[in-house]
Amino acid sequence: MNEKNLNILVLGSGGREHTLAKICSQSPLVNEVLVAPGNGGIEQEFRVLPVAVEDNESILNIAKEEEIDLVVVGPEVPLCNGVVDALNEAGVLAYGPNAACARLEGSKAFSKDFLARHNIPTAEYGNFCEVETALEYLQSCSLPVVVKASGLAAGKGVIICNSKEEAETEIHDMLSGNRFGASGSEVVIEEFLEGEEASLHLICSGENYVTLPMSQDHKKVGEGDTGPNTGGMGAYAPTSLVSPSMLAEYEESIVRPTLAGLKSEGMEFRGTLYIGLMLTKSGPKVLEFNVRFGDPETQVILPLVDQDLVPVLISSAKGEPLPEQLKIKQEFALVVVLASEGYPGNYPKGDTITPPSPLPPCTLLIHAGTASRPDGSVVSSGGRVLGAVGTGKSLQDARNSAYELCKSVAFSSKYYRKDIGHREFSRT
Ligand code: AMP
Ligand code: GLY
Repeated sequence: MNEKNLNILVLGSGGREHTLAKICSQSPLVNEVLVAPGNGGIEQEFRVLPVAVEDNESILNIAKEEEIDLVVVGPEVPLCNGVVDALNEAGVLAYGPNAACARLEGSKAFSKDFLARHNIPTAEYGNFCEVETALEYLQSCSLPVVVKASGLAAGKGVIICNSKEEAETEIHDMLSGNRFGASGSEVVIEEFLEGEEASLHLICSGENYVTLPMSQDHKKVGEGDTGPNTGGMGAYAPTSLVSPSMLAEYEESIVRPTLAGLKSEGMEFRGTLYIGLMLTKSGPKVLEFNVRFGDPETQVILPLVDQDLVPVLISSAKGEPLPEQLKIKQEFALVVVLASEGYPGNYPKGDTITPPSPLPPCTLLIHAGTASRPDGSVVSSGGRVLGAVGTGKSLQDARNSAYELCKSVAFSSKYYRKDIGHREFSRT
């Protein structure tokens, strides 16, 4: 591999991938950043390639044709499909875990058993493939109870049930394949945990890792954290919820045992490990593992990194030692997701998007669900359309900038939460 003039291919089409492409393109080591398949906004900044993220063979062909030095994999689906294994076997370097490690996200049943085997704190649970045994276990659970499809379900596979009847219906629907197809063929029934959630992102190279700033997502569609769950309506970082000394404790009780546990089972984790934590009265508990950067969290944590991330991604991809820690700016970042009214249910598509020009100071406009038209205009094409990111010396400044951008972007079905960061502001 060249040490300079690197060609990087970012795989994916959302806000996370737009952010990754922007960050990689700032590196002096990089010749060109390409994105596959990208989106309407990404296309205005980077060359995009029409390849589906599920298609390992085409990805491999394109990586070779374009003489790609590093593939940065954004979403979980290709990771679980073994795209990193396929690329590595063909001698192409790729950032992200192999399929064996990606099971931490691809199978909640696997990840719960892994947590239990290594005594890492998590909610009490049971895994079931049969309705009868699942219902039997349900009788012993207190309410509310959480029913999860074990496989990938694009963030929609977790149902918090307030009655046993509701839980029974969910169990039937999931295990019959009606609800989430094959992803529901195994369910996890889990104790409901109370507390605040925080996201911990690590870049890993086996047992070696660096931490990124702790962030907090806003999963519910409505203000005051109401309404149905979404992929995330906004995020901010860093959060004061987790002090540096608390983080050091979490590293002892959760991060190191996880990476050591994987190694002891023959799995060397490379890439991003995103640990979803519930901070309960009895300490932090792992809600879930993701094996890629969170979205929209990426949009706030990566702009806070004050060094070239490309060499770190390369070291992780190669399984080489990482720097002791990353240099992080003494700043805050906050992203408000501009969604299409109706999301996460049905919503319109094809609204023309008019961004302000120039953008307000200290902002970034990240494209997620957008497409470009032949006339060069960019239109909405997904539920989460854009990320309005603000940065600043205080979270208040970051918020003001983000909301200024929200107001000045126009598209007819624009909907956004007005209270991103509310938990932090009510703490301070
Ligand atoms: P997961 O995909 O497992 O992170 O779940 C998605 C969301 O559901 C989490 O971010 C939590 O808000 C919620 N959730 C999942 N598991 C639990 C649990 N055991 N107790 C309370 N909330 C949960
Ligand atoms: N924002 C939640 C996720 O990326 O899973």
